[in-house]
Amino acid sequence: MTAVRGEMASPMAAEWARSRPQTDAATASSASTALVLCDPAPHLALALEESGTTVTRWHRFLSPGQKCTPWPPPGPFDEVWVRMPRSSLEAAMLLHAAAARVGDGSPIHLFGASDEGIRSAARHFPAGTGEVQAALIKRRCRLLVAARVAPPPRGDGLDSWQTQVSIDWGTGPRDWIFYPGVFAHGRLDAATTLLIECLPRVPQGGRILDFGAGTGPLAAAALERAGDGAEVVLLEPDAISLAAAARNVPGGHRVLGGVLTDISGPFDLLVSNPPVHAGKQQSLRTVEALVREAPLVLAHGGELAMVAQRRLPVGDLLDHSFKHVRSAADRGPFRVWRARGTPDPPLEAS
Ligand SMILES: C[S@@+](CC[C@H](N)C(=O)[O-])C[C@H]1O[C@@H](n2cnc3c(N)ncnc32)[C@H](O)[C@@H]1O
Repeated sequence: MTAVRGEMASPMAAEWARSRPQTDAATASSASTALVLCDPAPHLALALEESGTTVTRWHRFLSPGQKCTPWPPPGPFDEVWVRMPRSSLEAAMLLHAAAARVGDGSPIHLFGASDEGIRSAARHFPAGTGEVQAALIKRRCRLLVAARVAPPPRGDGLDSWQTQVSIDWGTGPRDWIFYPGVFAHGRLDAATTLLIECLPRVPQGGRILDFGAGTGPLAAAALERAGDGAEVVLLEPDAISLAAAARNVPGGHRVLGGVLTDISGPFDLLVSNPPVHAGKQQSLRTVEALVREAPLVLAHGGELAMVAQRRLPVGDLLDHSFKHVRSAADRGPFRVWRARGTPDPPLEAS
């Protein structure tokens, strides 16, 4: 069975939420409120609700049945809980947002697993929080708590976390916006660069779809190379990546999502550097869905151009969905694939 990243973290936080002593203020108040940031699991939110707390959940990544926006709602809340994210910078950003949503004296919690870096995560709490204490250590997970003593130093909003760098895919330097936790933060990825070098030109008025668009480099490069009046759609399940893409590819049409067939085609070109991981584990589920569904959104004569690690069985997958499949470039561990046409139906036995 595939291990889910830090799957015991939310149950551990829930256990502590259920067993923690109630303060006089909390027992006297019938309407305590909590904000839970970036926890995809239900355990903690359910435990808080069981104790009578009104819970607001915020997610940057789209998941079934959950709302997702680029920045948490303003609050204020009586307490905030933050699920340990992937990067240190994202942890600092989320803890800042948490501190901006509670009053002085209110608790900010950070919980996660050892292999996610929770053991050294106390350093990510912003100035203006008191001593960070480990409230619970269990099953290789940890819950850290600190009270806010003063407002956090940075302004509240995604713009306070913007990084602007110069990137160049061969047609000249351009300013590019990143935010914490987006793909290839601060640089152009090597696989993306290789795919950009091999992008076909879309004719005048053509339509391009960038699947898993991230901050938008493939969309921007495909559009740059396209004929007049071409249109690009950026499909991406991370609301913060899409906020960066809005700055980087202002002419693009952005769609928050991860399902190809939710987008109305047809497209002349589908480009992708798709995700090949779910948490820390390699997973081809998204690649399989992309390759299976691509023919449904491509125009007659339309083409899929994608990049992946050469060791992955992408060629075999493409052969099932397309008639013409070729490797367009190899560099280092990466291969660019171009595919078009639907396979011939099997011959009927006479
Ligand atoms: C390898 S990154 C590539 C990002 C961007 N295209 C680039 O080249 O810089 C893969 C992107 O796919 C997004 N993603 C993750 N799951 C997805 C899904 N189910 N459907 C579409 N995109 C997904 C990730 O958030 C990430 O931005």
